[in-house]
Amino acid sequence: MNYQNLLIEIKDKIAIVTINRPDKLNALNSQTMSELKSAFTELNNNNEVYVVILTGSGEKAFVAGADISELSKLDMISGKEFSEKGQDIFNTIENLSKPVIAAVNGFALGGGCEVALACHIRLASENAKFGQPEVNLGIIPGYGGTQRLTRLINSGRAMEYILTGDMIDANEAYRIGLVNHVYPLSELMNKAMEMAKKIISKGQNAVRLTIKAVNIVDEVSFKEGQNYEASLFALCCGTEDFKEGTKAFLEKRKPAFKNR
Ligand code: COA
Repeated sequence: MNYQNLLIEIKDKIAIVTINRPDKLNALNSQTMSELKSAFTELNNNNEVYVVILTGSGEKAFVAGADISELSKLDMISGKEFSEKGQDIFNTIENLSKPVIAAVNGFALGGGCEVALACHIRLASENAKFGQPEVNLGIIPGYGGTQRLTRLINSGRAMEYILTGDMIDANEAYRIGLVNHVYPLSELMNKAMEMAKKIISKGQNAVRLTIKAVNIVDEVSFKEGQNYEASLFALCCGTEDFKEGTKAFLEKRKPAFKNR
């Protein structure tokens, strides 16, 4: 499928999705949001893709937020629809059956921070800047930011960043656990690819069930989460990959997973 505002490259089981509106710092207009929904749905169904990397075009921005020219036209009714639609699209990313790595290569503000939060792992370049500056526009984050940021970095910090709209530089983002690693911009994509390749070398049933087990944590009690973990663990034990992984260890060789 051809996209107006996304570039998609699939190679060696890795899909690189680049949000491509550099003249608007990759701001998420409705066209781009619809394309993200279609692209991630398609990639989820594409058996040739094991890991997705999401990044932004150019060297300045990952995504500078929802498109403010569109935002400015919302009223109460369309605002609710806008928020719910965006939440649904980012839920699609969070619930993708395969890992999604955000390679945050610059500004990740508003919806840009929120889409990074919906990814499973965040890597940032040294020039990356995160933030939820919606308060400057008289609104609150509407694509899941109040929920995901609070869960990831704790409520006191999330409250501060959302109430002040302050930007968080890459080192601070690393310190507070908002990103997993920080790299020079020139190395960011290579590091994301390296991580993707490492994940691809593992048994993919275990990889995909890990996402399910971790993602359920905010929805159920600890006991229910443990029950769910036990069921998924049992599923893994029924796979050929499990037999191969354990056999390979005991034979002191690398496993040859067939993802069955
Ligand atoms: N929506 C629409 N357009 C945006 C945008 C957004 N969220 N963010 C940037 N742009 C556009 C600018 O309007 C400008 O377009 P123009 O050249 O046609 O005038 C272009 O992208 C470049 O942005 P500019 O502001 O000139 O770059 P800068 O380096 O001076 O500042 C930012 C960069 C990110 C600090 C600044 O663009 C900004 O604050 N953006 C809005 C961030 C925001 O509030 N996001 C949350 C929205 S809910």
